[in-house]
Amino acid sequence: MDKRPIGIFDSGVGGLTVVKQVMKVMPHENIVYFGDTARLPYGSKSKETVTKFSKQNVRFLLTKKVKTIIVACNTASSNSLEALHKTFDVPIFGVVDAGVAEALGTTQNKKIGVIGTAGTVRSGAYEKMICKEDKELQVFSKACPLFVPLAEEGWTDNEIARLTAERYLEELLEKGIDSLVLGCTHYPLLKRCIGTVAGMDVKLVDPAKATAKQVKLFLREKGIENFGEAPGERSFYLSDYTDMFYSICQKALKQGYNPEIIDIEQF
Ligand code: DGL
Repeated sequence: MDKRPIGIFDSGVGGLTVVKQVMKVMPHENIVYFGDTARLPYGSKSKETVTKFSKQNVRFLLTKKVKTIIVACNTASSNSLEALHKTFDVPIFGVVDAGVAEALGTTQNKKIGVIGTAGTVRSGAYEKMICKEDKELQVFSKACPLFVPLAEEGWTDNEIARLTAERYLEELLEKGIDSLVLGCTHYPLLKRCIGTVAGMDVKLVDPAKATAKQVKLFLREKGIENFGEAPGERSFYLSDYTDMFYSICQKALKQGYNPEIIDIEQF
């Protein structure tokens, strides 16, 4: 029995889509969430900057005595995970591996679309891992940076979101993809809108659930699960105030939370 919390971070509210799955799959685990809202977006920044920020985020979470960390950000997972593994002893999980495994199990026609931030698409992380598994698979990637501010603003299913999705997805749909990886943790917040535009023939792949299952298995194998009966405690920290946090929590987690603001530059 290990009551230490699981640490989860993202650049903003996107990682709440991972928190949601962790809460579902491991309801008794305590969670400490950090959203780096002062420095969002990560998707337009260099690998070096995202890595520097990610290290600070891990250092902050370590002050909360976390037993493991989930990088609930595809941009940081695809650009900085290796550096984090080299720097810290705490077990750290990204979201890309799980997303790849899920996509491989979903596609039937071997044409997979990947949408993510410019940083994730530039890293080529999804293509490399998918094509390593099966050379016949075709991967078509597209950066969709505007989805992030739409999600942060709570504009997840309106006319602007739909038009944006139509413009971004057009070229991927023309390629005949049958699976679309939501390769940014903000995007599941727009799932309904993206799903409507993509159409019924395209299956949406959200790496969050598979990531949560992967972490659960790890905790079990290591004997560090929290077997408590009570629902886990959740604490939320942001690096800057954001109006929308409470309502986005309500939408994503079915409960509003008030975040504590911290100065991430101290870490
Ligand atoms: N939610 C993050 C991701 O999965 C990053 C979004 C951003 O800050 O650009 O990539």
